[in-house]
Amino acid sequence: MKESILVIGANGQIGTELVEELRHRHGESTVIATDIKPANAALEGTGPFEQVDVLDTSGLHEVMRRNNVKQVYLLAALLSATAEQKVKTAWRLNMEGLLGVLDLAREQSFKLFWPSSIAVFGPTTPRDNTPQYTITEPNTVYGISKLAGERWCEYYHQKFGVDVRSLRYPGLIGWKSEPGGGTTDYAVHIFHEALRSKKYEAFLSEDTMLPMMYMPDALRATIGIMDAAADHIKIRSSYNVAAMSFTPKDIALEIEKHIPGFSISYKPDSRQQIADSWPRSFDDAAARKDWGWRHEFDLAKMTDDMLVHLQHPVM
Ligand code: SER
Repeated sequence: MKESILVIGANGQIGTELVEELRHRHGESTVIATDIKPANAALEGTGPFEQVDVLDTSGLHEVMRRNNVKQVYLLAALLSATAEQKVKTAWRLNMEGLLGVLDLAREQSFKLFWPSSIAVFGPTTPRDNTPQYTITEPNTVYGISKLAGERWCEYYHQKFGVDVRSLRYPGLIGWKSEPGGGTTDYAVHIFHEALRSKKYEAFLSEDTMLPMMYMPDALRATIGIMDAAADHIKIRSSYNVAAMSFTPKDIALEIEKHIPGFSISYKPDSRQQIADSWPRSFDDAAARKDWGWRHEFDLAKMTDDMLVHLQHPVM
């Protein structure tokens, strides 16, 4: 029976684009998209889709068995801002979801990708060029769940030989899908508003610098770590992966080069405190050395590409 790849949480910001990219590489019927909700507009009709809750381990197991699944991308999670509003739900989804899939990976021996985040760092972490190994005392529910998740991934690898691979994503920016509930979401919304109304009110202050990455780079990093030879993956908790860092003011200036008259204002809300606990930039030398990670997009190149595609959205 043909082997397939399962994407859990396929309706989300990463899932929507990852499913498309994996189908492009492996053929549409090889990639089974799943989500707790019915397929979103971008995914509908593009290939196999199964509606299943990640917390329903036996339902997931059944989908895996029927499709001879050999690789799983587990993307179902609540992001940082939403998790602060729904503490117990976030913990349950982010943590029990991962543990259930790790147990399935232990039994079924599939290769697993699970995303971590810059949110594993906290207010006591050095904020500039944050190293791979440093103080990790996150003070958000999301960050605590990601840090615990990293520990579980390493544990399942060491104790049970589970082939799990993980990246600490920075904020992700793309034009094909919308983020939901994150602290870095402003860097996507700003493009839509710039084109719609030539102005944007940021929920972070003008000088809040955060690490960010353009979605094509994030997809290459994700598929790159999954395709790397197992002995190149030296870190089984999660790898720092970086591309660029900027502030709301920096991105507004870059957008203004393309949209003269664009203006930004600032009204920091509760997400400011989350952003202030995260790195300004982080060091991904280990990913570059171990499995050859390279980014392609900086702020200028990303801005150009985003605006071209948002104005001419050909998939
Ligand atoms: N982009 C995510 C968030 O803002 C961080 O992983 O929650």
